[in-house]
Amino acid sequence: MKTGTVFKTFIAKDGRTVTLRSPRWDDLDDLTEFINSLIDEGAQITAYQKVTREQEALWLGQQLADVEKGTKIIIVAEVDGRVIANSSFSKKTGYSEHVGVLGIAIKNGYRDIGIGTELMNELILKAKDMGLKLLTLSVFESNDRARHVYEKVGFKETGRIPKELFKDGKYIDHTYMVKELTKIP
Ligand SMILES: CC(C)(COP(=O)(O)OP(=O)(O)OC[C@H]1O[C@@H](n2cnc3c(N)ncnc32)[C@H](O)[C@@H]1OP(=O)(O)O)[C@@H](O)C(=O)NCCC(=O)NCCS
Repeated sequence: MKTGTVFKTFIAKDGRTVTLRSPRWDDLDDLTEFINSLIDEGAQITAYQKVTREQEALWLGQQLADVEKGTKIIIVAEVDGRVIANSSFSKKTGYSEHVGVLGIAIKNGYRDIGIGTELMNELILKAKDMGLKLLTLSVFESNDRARHVYEKVGFKETGRIPKELFKDGKYIDHTYMVKELTKIP
C-alpha cells in the first residue's frame, strides 16, 4: 500500500473535516507529539513511557515496513493538516494467520465526535478485504468509552485476565474482545 493513500473523508460531529489515510514518513513529528500527549494525560493504553523523536522514528520505520510487507494496516486520522489519531491491526502468523490484532487511540480534544467509530469501521472493512476472519483487541476494563465503541461495531467480550494491569495505584482487569468477520465453522 502506498504511504499517504486517502481512504475516506468525512465531517465529524463538531463540523471539522477528517481525513482517514495511510501514514507517511513526514507524520513523524505529529505521531511523536500524539503518543507523548497520550502518556502525559495518563490515557488507558498499554504504552506508559514518553518517547524521543529518534525512538519514534525507529518505531515508524518498522510500522511502514510492516505495511509495505502486507502484515499490517495502519489508518491515521488527519484534521487541519495534523495527525490526531492512529489505529491499526497486525496480521498474526502460523496457525493464527486468519487473525488480526487491533489498536486505536484518538488525541484528547478530538474524542466523542465520531472519529473512533469511523476508524473502527474502516479497519473492519480493510481486515475483511485482506481475508482475515477474526479481529481481537484488549482494553482496560475501566475504559467505558472504548468498550462502548467496540461493542457498537460488533466486538464481544470473550474473556478477561483479572488484575493484569496496575495503573495509578490500582489493579485493573484486562478485557479481551473479539469480532468474527465471517461465519467460521
Ligand atoms: C476510545 C476511543 C478510541 C473512542 O474514540 P472516539 O472518537 O472518542 O469515539 P466516538 O466519538 O466514535 O464514540 C464515542 C462513543 O462513546 C460514548 N461515550 C463517551 N464517554 C463514555 C463513557 N464514559 N461510557 C460509555 N460511553 C461513552 C459516546 O457517547 C459515543 O457513543 P455513541 O457513538 O453511541 O453516541 C477514544 O476516545 C480514545 O482514543 N481514547 C483514549 C485512548 C484509548 O482509550 N484508546 C483505546 C485503548 S483500548
